[in-house]
Amino acid sequence: MGSNIKNVTVFGAGLMGNGIAQVAAQNGYRVTLVDVDKAFLEKGIARLEGSLKRVLRKKVEGEEAQQIAFNEVMARISTSTDAEGAVANADLVVEAIIENLEIKQDLFASLDKAAPAPCLFASNTSSLPIKELAAATNRADRFGGLHFFNPVPVMRLVEVVKAEETSEETHTALLAFGEGVGKRAVTCKDTPGFIVNRLLVPYLMEAVRLLDRGDASEADIDDAMKMGCGYPMGPLQLLDYVGLDTTKFIMDGWHNAFPDQALFDPSPLLDKLVSEGKLGRKSGEGFYSYTKK
Ligand code: 3HC
Repeated sequence: MGSNIKNVTVFGAGLMGNGIAQVAAQNGYRVTLVDVDKAFLEKGIARLEGSLKRVLRKKVEGEEAQQIAFNEVMARISTSTDAEGAVANADLVVEAIIENLEIKQDLFASLDKAAPAPCLFASNTSSLPIKELAAATNRADRFGGLHFFNPVPVMRLVEVVKAEETSEETHTALLAFGEGVGKRAVTCKDTPGFIVNRLLVPYLMEAVRLLDRGDASEADIDDAMKMGCGYPMGPLQLLDYVGLDTTKFIMDGWHNAFPDQALFDPSPLLDKLVSEGKLGRKSGEGFYSYTKK
């Protein structure tokens, strides 16, 4: 466990929030997972339990020892729907709620009043400037980015984003936390896409454009990158995995900010699929269908 951080409050019981809560608890942090609705929390915890069992089956020998380890990790996790109460003893807040600037700013503004002064704030945003989120608080020096990757328990990286006003002390503590949850923590400035998405998203979009032009089929594009480059998933499979809406949201944001950058141009095919509700695995269909067994 790195630095003085012991109590971590994670906002958002979706895929990312769950995963962050899981790796933090697995590595000895006390975690409070917060969402607006009890039903979201129950669903999130059920998913977290399933993922934790998968991890422990590989890490710990013997069913009894696995059960003990499982109980130990779960004992470090509590849930809450009371956002302000949940940060009263927090050393670190990690926000992983919906990618909406105003909603995130509102949350951070109210947490800023409720959290102890030394508590650090971090956002798992993949597309919004950390600076604009920090501006909703009076603790921009104690604010940074902690960008994890899906599935969080498996992917070995976290990007630790140092915005202009993030203090050295905060940055060091966030790096230590990233390493404390077992990840390789890389540093990046508060720049669009940070490192991974800046490289990954244009690549994914080029795959969609290739398909849209009819230059190659879905299966051939995906197999080409899996077998030609050794990637675990092809770009269209990865788009389905990440969520077509998520990728569109990132691209639209960049396109609005940098309209002359052709790399950030929207894709008519991606827009069409999203408008039809084909969002990838989570909706049962994207570039591929996931409804058939
Ligand atoms: N929880 C715990 N363990 C998991 C897991 C989860 N949710 N998902 C997979 N695993 C582990 C399991 O240990 C599994 O082994 P097991 O079968 O013994 O349980 C092992 O991973 C392999 O999983 P699977 O057999 O189910 O499937 P794959 O071998 O195809 O691996 C994958 C799945 C790890 C997702 C792999 O395909 C992969 O690495 N894909 C690329 C993912 C990627 O690029 N993520 C980044 C997305 S970008 C992002 O998140 C940024 C955002 O801002 C857009």
